[in-house]
Amino acid sequence: MSTRCSPRSGPGNWPRVTGVNSYLIAELIGEGLNRREARWLVEEFMTGADSDSIRSLRLAARRRLDGEPLQYVIGHWPFRGLDLDLDPRVLIPRPETEELVSVALGELRALGPEPSLVVDLGCGSGAIGLALLQESQRVGSSVALIAVDASREALNVAEMNAVKHGLGSVSFVQSSWFDALDESLRASFDLIVANPPYVGVEEFETLDEVLKYEPRRALVAQSSRGVEGLADLETIILQAPAWLAVGGSLVVEHGRDQRAAVLELAHEARLGQVSDLEDLSGHARILVARRC
Ligand SMILES: C[S@@+](CC[C@H](N)C(=O)[O-])C[C@H]1O[C@@H](n2cnc3c(N)ncnc32)[C@H](O)[C@@H]1O
Repeated sequence: MSTRCSPRSGPGNWPRVTGVNSYLIAELIGEGLNRREARWLVEEFMTGADSDSIRSLRLAARRRLDGEPLQYVIGHWPFRGLDLDLDPRVLIPRPETEELVSVALGELRALGPEPSLVVDLGCGSGAIGLALLQESQRVGSSVALIAVDASREALNVAEMNAVKHGLGSVSFVQSSWFDALDESLRASFDLIVANPPYVGVEEFETLDEVLKYEPRRALVAQSSRGVEGLADLETIILQAPAWLAVGGSLVVEHGRDQRAAVLELAHEARLGQVSDLEDLSGHARILVARRC
Protein backbone atom coordinates (compact mmCIF):
# COMPACT_ATOMS: atom_id res chain seq x y z
CA MET A 1 0.00 0.00 0.00
CA SER A 2 1.45 3.32 -0.93
CA THR A 3 -0.30 6.43 0.26
CA ARG A 4 -1.24 7.39 -3.26
CA CYS A 5 -4.82 6.76 -4.21
CA SER A 6 -4.78 7.18 -7.97
CA PRO A 7 -6.29 4.24 -9.81
CA ARG A 8 -4.23 2.93 -12.72
CA SER A 9 -7.30 1.77 -14.60
CA GLY A 10 -11.03 2.14 -14.24
CA PRO A 11 -13.76 -0.42 -13.94
CA GLY A 12 -13.77 -1.17 -17.69
CA ASN A 13 -15.96 -3.50 -19.73
CA TRP A 14 -18.98 -1.30 -19.32
CA PRO A 15 -21.49 -0.29 -22.00
CA ARG A 16 -20.64 2.60 -24.28
CA VAL A 17 -21.98 6.00 -23.36
CA THR A 18 -24.75 7.32 -25.59
CA GLY A 19 -27.60 9.87 -25.75
CA VAL A 20 -28.96 10.92 -22.39
CA ASN A 21 -25.81 9.65 -20.69
CA SER A 22 -23.63 12.11 -22.63
CA TYR A 23 -25.87 14.85 -21.34
CA LEU A 24 -25.50 13.59 -17.74
CA ILE A 25 -21.72 13.34 -18.07
CA ALA A 26 -21.59 16.97 -19.21
CA GLU A 27 -23.78 17.95 -16.25
CA LEU A 28 -21.48 16.17 -13.75
CA ILE A 29 -18.41 17.80 -15.31
CA GLY A 30 -20.17 21.14 -14.85
CA GLU A 31 -20.60 20.31 -11.16
CA GLY A 32 -16.87 19.73 -10.77
CA LEU A 33 -16.11 16.07 -11.57
CA ASN A 34 -13.41 15.28 -14.08
CA ARG A 35 -14.49 13.70 -17.39
CA ARG A 36 -13.18 10.20 -16.63
CA GLU A 37 -14.89 9.95 -13.24
CA ALA A 38 -18.12 11.47 -14.57
CA ARG A 39 -18.20 8.82 -17.27
CA TRP A 40 -17.49 5.98 -14.86
CA LEU A 41 -20.27 7.10 -12.51
CA VAL A 42 -22.79 7.41 -15.33
CA GLU A 43 -21.88 3.99 -16.70
CA GLU A 44 -22.15 2.45 -13.22
CA PHE A 45 -25.40 3.99 -12.06
CA MET A 46 -27.41 4.59 -15.25
CA THR A 47 -28.35 0.95 -15.66
CA GLY A 48 -31.81 2.05 -16.79
CA ALA A 49 -32.89 5.50 -17.99
CA ASP A 50 -35.32 5.78 -15.05
CA SER A 51 -35.68 8.18 -12.14
CA ASP A 52 -34.21 5.66 -9.62
CA SER A 53 -31.00 5.43 -11.66
CA ILE A 54 -30.77 9.20 -11.90
CA ARG A 55 -31.34 9.52 -8.13
CA SER A 56 -28.57 6.96 -7.44
CA LEU A 57 -26.25 8.76 -9.84
CA ARG A 58 -26.83 12.12 -8.18
CA LEU A 59 -26.22 10.64 -4.72
CA ALA A 60 -23.01 8.99 -5.95
CA ALA A 61 -21.81 12.21 -7.59
CA ARG A 62 -22.49 14.12 -4.36
CA ARG A 63 -20.41 11.62 -2.35
CA ARG A 64 -17.55 11.92 -4.82
CA LEU A 65 -17.75 15.72 -4.91
CA ASP A 66 -17.64 15.70 -1.09
CA GLY A 67 -14.29 13.90 -1.33
CA GLU A 68 -15.07 10.20 -0.87
CA PRO A 69 -12.78 7.93 -2.95
CA LEU A 70 -14.33 6.89 -6.25
CA GLN A 71 -13.72 3.21 -5.45
CA TYR A 72 -16.01 3.35 -2.40
CA VAL A 73 -18.65 5.36 -4.27
CA ILE A 74 -18.75 2.81 -7.09
CA GLY A 75 -18.45 -0.05 -4.60
CA HIS A 76 -16.16 -2.29 -6.61
CA TRP A 77 -12.86 -1.96 -8.46
CA PRO A 78 -10.57 -4.16 -10.55
CA PHE A 79 -7.50 -5.72 -9.00
CA ARG A 80 -5.60 -7.96 -11.42
CA GLY A 81 -8.23 -10.49 -12.60
CA LEU A 82 -10.68 -9.75 -9.78
CA ASP A 83 -13.52 -7.28 -9.53
CA LEU A 84 -13.32 -6.64 -5.78
CA ASP A 85 -16.26 -5.33 -3.79
CA LEU A 86 -14.95 -2.45 -1.69
CA ASP A 87 -16.34 -0.27 1.09
CA PRO A 88 -14.88 1.72 3.97
CA ARG A 89 -14.34 -1.45 6.02
CA VAL A 90 -11.28 -2.20 3.86
CA LEU A 91 -8.30 -0.46 2.28
CA ILE A 92 -8.59 0.34 -1.43
CA PRO A 93 -5.97 -1.96 -3.00
CA ARG A 94 -3.15 -0.04 -4.71
CA PRO A 95 -1.45 -0.67 -8.08
CA GLU A 96 1.83 -1.33 -6.20
CA THR A 97 0.17 -4.28 -4.53
CA GLU A 98 -0.65 -5.77 -7.94
CA GLU A 99 3.12 -5.85 -8.46
CA LEU A 100 3.55 -7.68 -5.16
CA VAL A 101 1.19 -10.37 -6.49
CA SER A 102 3.44 -10.84 -9.55
CA VAL A 103 6.45 -11.30 -7.26
CA ALA A 104 4.54 -13.76 -5.05
CA LEU A 105 3.42 -15.78 -8.09
CA GLY A 106 7.09 -16.01 -9.12
CA GLU A 107 7.94 -17.38 -5.68
CA LEU A 108 5.17 -19.98 -5.97
CA ARG A 109 6.41 -21.00 -9.42
CA ALA A 110 9.94 -21.42 -8.03
CA LEU A 111 8.58 -23.85 -5.44
CA GLY A 112 7.41 -26.18 -8.21
CA PRO A 113 4.18 -28.05 -8.91
CA GLU A 114 3.47 -29.33 -5.38
CA PRO A 115 0.31 -27.97 -3.65
CA SER A 116 1.17 -24.82 -1.73
CA LEU A 117 -0.05 -23.40 1.56
CA VAL A 118 -0.22 -19.61 1.56
CA VAL A 119 -1.11 -17.11 4.28
CA ASP A 120 -2.16 -13.53 3.47
CA LEU A 121 -1.57 -11.45 6.61
CA GLY A 122 -3.80 -8.37 6.83
CA CYS A 123 -5.91 -9.54 3.90
CA GLY A 124 -8.30 -6.54 3.86
CA SER A 125 -10.56 -6.96 0.82
CA GLY A 126 -8.75 -10.21 0.04
CA ALA A 127 -6.87 -8.58 -2.84
CA ILE A 128 -3.50 -10.34 -2.59
CA GLY A 129 -4.55 -13.80 -1.45
CA LEU A 130 -7.56 -14.10 -3.73
CA ALA A 131 -5.57 -12.92 -6.76
CA LEU A 132 -2.93 -15.55 -5.95
CA LEU A 133 -5.61 -18.22 -5.68
CA GLN A 134 -7.34 -17.20 -8.90
CA GLU A 135 -4.17 -16.95 -10.95
CA SER A 136 -2.67 -20.17 -9.57
CA GLN A 137 -5.87 -22.05 -10.35
CA ARG A 138 -5.80 -20.69 -13.91
CA VAL A 139 -2.46 -22.38 -14.56
CA GLY A 140 -3.55 -25.57 -12.82
CA SER A 141 -1.57 -25.06 -9.59
CA SER A 142 -3.09 -26.08 -6.31
CA VAL A 143 -3.01 -23.45 -3.58
CA ALA A 144 -4.72 -23.40 -0.20
CA LEU A 145 -5.07 -19.96 1.35
CA ILE A 146 -5.46 -18.73 4.91
CA ALA A 147 -6.61 -15.11 4.94
CA VAL A 148 -5.86 -13.33 8.22
CA ASP A 149 -6.98 -9.94 9.47
CA ALA A 150 -7.38 -8.36 12.89
CA SER A 151 -10.60 -6.75 11.65
CA ARG A 152 -13.72 -8.93 11.61
CA GLU A 153 -15.31 -6.44 9.22
CA ALA A 154 -12.43 -6.72 6.76
CA LEU A 155 -12.67 -10.52 6.88
CA ASN A 156 -16.38 -10.27 6.03
CA VAL A 157 -15.52 -8.27 2.91
CA ALA A 158 -12.75 -10.70 1.93
CA GLU A 159 -15.13 -13.64 2.37
CA MET A 160 -17.74 -11.91 0.22
CA ASN A 161 -15.11 -11.39 -2.50
CA ALA A 162 -14.06 -15.04 -2.37
CA VAL A 163 -17.69 -16.13 -2.83
CA LYS A 164 -18.21 -13.56 -5.60
CA HIS A 165 -15.31 -15.07 -7.57
CA GLY A 166 -16.11 -18.70 -6.78
CA LEU A 167 -12.80 -19.18 -4.99
CA GLY A 168 -12.76 -22.10 -2.55
CA SER A 169 -9.69 -23.46 -0.71
CA VAL A 170 -9.64 -20.43 1.55
CA SER A 171 -10.23 -20.06 5.27
CA PHE A 172 -10.57 -16.79 7.15
CA VAL A 173 -8.97 -16.25 10.54
CA GLN A 174 -9.33 -13.25 12.82
CA SER A 175 -5.91 -12.78 14.32
CA SER A 176 -3.27 -10.22 15.12
CA TRP A 177 -0.67 -11.41 12.60
CA PHE A 178 0.36 -14.98 13.55
CA ASP A 179 -1.06 -14.88 17.10
CA ALA A 180 -4.28 -16.89 16.64
CA LEU A 181 -3.02 -19.29 13.98
CA ASP A 182 -3.15 -22.94 14.93
CA GLU A 183 0.18 -24.13 16.35
CA SER A 184 0.07 -27.08 13.94
CA LEU A 185 0.68 -24.58 11.10
CA ARG A 186 4.15 -23.71 12.36
CA ALA A 187 6.86 -24.37 9.77
CA SER A 188 4.26 -25.19 7.13
CA PHE A 189 3.66 -22.12 4.96
CA ASP A 190 5.21 -22.17 1.49
CA LEU A 191 4.44 -18.49 1.11
CA ILE A 192 3.67 -15.67 3.53
CA VAL A 193 2.39 -12.51 1.86
CA ALA A 194 1.57 -9.28 3.63
CA ASN A 195 0.83 -5.66 2.96
CA PRO A 196 0.72 -4.45 6.55
CA PRO A 197 0.11 -0.90 7.75
CA TYR A 198 3.36 1.02 7.40
CA VAL A 199 2.51 4.72 7.48
CA GLY A 200 3.85 6.48 10.58
CA VAL A 201 1.48 8.17 13.03
CA GLU A 202 2.94 11.63 12.41
CA GLU A 203 3.25 11.15 8.65
CA PHE A 204 -0.42 10.16 8.48
CA GLU A 205 -1.47 13.56 9.79
CA THR A 206 0.35 15.25 6.90
CA LEU A 207 -1.22 13.15 4.14
CA ASP A 208 -4.09 13.81 1.77
CA GLU A 209 -7.50 14.07 3.45
CA VAL A 210 -8.86 11.38 1.11
CA LEU A 211 -6.91 8.74 3.07
CA LYS A 212 -9.05 9.50 6.11
CA TYR A 213 -11.92 7.63 4.43
CA GLU A 214 -9.95 4.39 4.70
CA PRO A 215 -9.67 2.41 7.97
CA ARG A 216 -6.88 3.96 10.03
CA ARG A 217 -5.74 0.56 11.28
CA ALA A 218 -5.17 -0.47 7.64
CA LEU A 219 -2.70 2.35 7.08
CA VAL A 220 -1.04 3.45 10.29
CA ALA A 221 1.57 1.59 12.31
CA GLN A 222 3.59 2.56 15.36
CA SER A 223 7.26 3.43 15.10
CA SER A 224 9.96 1.00 16.10
CA ARG A 225 13.78 1.18 16.18
CA GLY A 226 13.45 4.88 15.42
CA VAL A 227 11.71 4.18 12.10
CA GLU A 228 8.22 5.57 11.53
CA GLY A 229 5.55 2.97 10.80
CA LEU A 230 7.87 -0.04 11.26
CA ALA A 231 6.20 -1.89 14.16
CA ASP A 232 3.92 -4.26 12.18
CA LEU A 233 6.61 -5.01 9.59
CA GLU A 234 8.95 -5.84 12.46
CA THR A 235 6.49 -8.31 14.01
CA ILE A 236 5.82 -10.04 10.70
CA ILE A 237 9.43 -10.30 9.52
CA LEU A 238 10.82 -11.49 12.86
CA GLN A 239 8.06 -14.07 13.37
CA ALA A 240 7.94 -15.33 9.77
CA PRO A 241 10.75 -17.94 10.01
CA ALA A 242 8.84 -19.90 12.66
CA TRP A 243 5.85 -20.25 10.30
CA LEU A 244 7.64 -20.80 6.97
CA ALA A 245 8.39 -24.27 5.66
CA VAL A 246 12.04 -24.79 4.76
CA GLY A 247 12.48 -23.12 1.35
CA GLY A 248 9.30 -21.09 1.82
CA SER A 249 9.15 -17.39 0.95
CA LEU A 250 8.12 -14.19 2.63
CA VAL A 251 6.92 -11.39 0.35
CA VAL A 252 6.08 -8.14 2.13
CA GLU A 253 5.20 -4.65 0.97
CA HIS A 254 6.78 -1.71 2.83
CA GLY A 255 7.19 2.05 2.67
CA ARG A 256 9.72 3.69 0.38
CA ASP A 257 11.87 4.91 3.28
CA GLN A 258 11.88 1.58 5.13
CA ARG A 259 14.24 -0.43 2.89
CA ALA A 260 17.26 -0.36 5.20
CA ALA A 261 15.13 -1.26 8.21
CA VAL A 262 13.33 -4.23 6.59
CA LEU A 263 16.62 -5.61 5.19
CA GLU A 264 18.12 -5.42 8.67
CA LEU A 265 15.08 -7.21 10.11
CA ALA A 266 15.31 -9.95 7.46
CA HIS A 267 18.95 -10.59 8.33
CA GLU A 268 18.16 -10.53 12.05
CA ALA A 269 15.44 -13.13 11.41
CA ARG A 270 18.10 -15.27 9.66
CA LEU A 271 16.14 -15.33 6.42
CA GLY A 272 18.17 -16.08 3.29
CA GLN A 273 18.17 -15.03 -0.38
CA VAL A 274 17.02 -11.61 0.72
CA SER A 275 16.21 -8.98 -1.90
CA ASP A 276 14.26 -5.78 -1.96
CA LEU A 277 12.48 -4.76 -5.13
CA GLU A 278 11.33 -1.43 -6.48
CA ASP A 279 7.82 -0.68 -7.68
CA LEU A 280 7.09 0.68 -11.15
CA SER A 281 7.62 4.21 -9.85
CA GLY A 282 11.15 3.26 -8.80
CA HIS A 283 10.48 3.28 -5.04
CA ALA A 284 11.77 0.58 -2.70
CA ARG A 285 8.62 -1.46 -2.02
CA ILE A 286 8.78 -5.27 -1.80
CA LEU A 287 10.93 -7.39 0.49
CA VAL A 288 11.46 -10.98 -0.63
CA ALA A 289 13.25 -13.52 1.57
CA ARG A 290 13.36 -17.28 2.03
CA ARG A 291 13.74 -19.65 4.94
CA CYS A 292 16.86 -21.61 4.09
C1 LIG B 1 -2.57 -2.00 4.15
S1 LIG B 1 -4.00 -2.93 4.54
C2 LIG B 1 -3.81 -4.21 3.33
C3 LIG B 1 -5.11 -4.79 2.84
C4 LIG B 1 -4.93 -5.72 1.63
N1 LIG B 1 -4.02 -6.79 1.93
C5 LIG B 1 -4.41 -4.95 0.45
O1 LIG B 1 -3.24 -5.07 0.10
O2 LIG B 1 -5.20 -4.21 -0.15
C6 LIG B 1 -3.52 -3.69 6.07
C7 LIG B 1 -4.50 -4.67 6.65
O3 LIG B 1 -3.93 -5.18 7.85
C8 LIG B 1 -4.93 -5.30 8.82
N2 LIG B 1 -4.28 -5.25 10.14
C9 LIG B 1 -3.88 -4.17 10.85
N3 LIG B 1 -3.30 -4.56 12.01
C10 LIG B 1 -3.34 -5.91 12.02
C11 LIG B 1 -2.89 -6.90 12.93
N4 LIG B 1 -2.26 -6.57 14.08
N5 LIG B 1 -3.07 -8.18 12.62
C12 LIG B 1 -3.69 -8.54 11.46
N6 LIG B 1 -4.14 -7.65 10.56
C13 LIG B 1 -3.96 -6.34 10.83
C14 LIG B 1 -5.89 -4.15 8.55
O4 LIG B 1 -7.16 -4.42 9.10
C15 LIG B 1 -5.86 -4.10 7.02
O5 LIG B 1 -6.87 -4.90 6.48
